[in-house]
Amino acid sequence: MLRRLYREQPESFAFTPENRAWAEAQISKYPEGRQASAVIALLWRAQEQEGWLTRPAIEYVADMLGMDYIRALEVATFYFMFQLKPVGSVAHFQICGTLSCMITGAPDLIAICKERIAPEPHTLSPDGRFSWEEVECLGACANAPMAQIGKDYYEDLTPEAFIALLDEFDAGRVPVPGPQNGRYAAEPLSGLTTLTEHESGRTQYNASVQRAVDLGDTIKRIDGSEVPLSAPWRDGRGKGAGAKARARPAAKPAPEKAAKKPAKKTAKKAARPETAATGTRPEALKAPREGGADDLKMIRGVGPKLEKLLHRLGFFHFDQIAKWSAEEIAWVDENLEGFKGRVSRDEWVKQAKILAEGGTTEFARKVKKGDVY
Ligand code: FES
Repeated sequence: MLRRLYREQPESFAFTPENRAWAEAQISKYPEGRQASAVIALLWRAQEQEGWLTRPAIEYVADMLGMDYIRALEVATFYFMFQLKPVGSVAHFQICGTLSCMITGAPDLIAICKERIAPEPHTLSPDGRFSWEEVECLGACANAPMAQIGKDYYEDLTPEAFIALLDEFDAGRVPVPGPQNGRYAAEPLSGLTTLTEHESGRTQYNASVQRAVDLGDTIKRIDGSEVPLSAPWRDGRGKGAGAKARARPAAKPAPEKAAKKPAKKTAKKAARPETAATGTRPEALKAPREGGADDLKMIRGVGPKLEKLLHRLGFFHFDQIAKWSAEEIAWVDENLEGFKGRVSRDEWVKQAKILAEGGTTEFARKVKKGDVY
């Protein structure tokens, strides 16, 4: 399926303060230079906040993570869980259309969606309140057929039960998720025959349904106020062998970088290398030599953003990079805002040596041919 950004996009996007704090906490899980690993989590939270993933939201997340927009766009357009078109303002119904659900009644549920919501998936109902799509197995096959609505599963559906659900949502109520035929969870329809003792201490609903009921966030747009922020990995309170090693000082994590976005230029100046403590600063130039700067994008791993950053740091030529010692590499690695560790990871010095001597690399050849975007 071709997945494109929707033709109409909002002007802007911003996380709510609570979601922003949550996002910053997610970023701090990853080592310096690897903040982009949080991209799926952040895109997902943006979708939870808005209902769908807008272009401004994708770019906002990319900025937080110091990623090129195209990299975040690649992730957003690759994974089907990201909705690239507006969804119903009340609920988006995801009907499982895989084997177990298909042979137990999914086609009937899809027919109801077509009739009650819209003839085509990913289309808003006339009042804009509902939308639907068919999805692959959602892992609740023992309770087929089922549908995911908002954050929760509605299982053991019949056409009648599904219509009743639609009526409830339509009336502004949120039906209790879970099995809709009286089952507690995925036990046999005839009742438990073994491990019956769990019955004694059970909650009114099974664990996931109970949690959904307690939080009340089934179809709610998530603004971050639902669950208090918890980030034990940031203060060493996490349990387990690696927790202490993973914990990082509160003053240093990546989110600080992300928070600089609104005042981009000032922030970048403030973070200039003079403050770095690691390694030795290589000799820098105030401007390129006569004849202009080399095309540093010929070095694999250097894109337009990094090239600009290198210029700001005073590096314009292959021969400058080719001369960096291990200490100097460490300094530059440490001072590449949002791209820490790229010099060693992508072996810039090795590539720069070849290019400085007039040679070429496979990557440089591709750049020259225009095969790198
Ligand atoms: S087949 Fe529908 S949940 Fe697995």
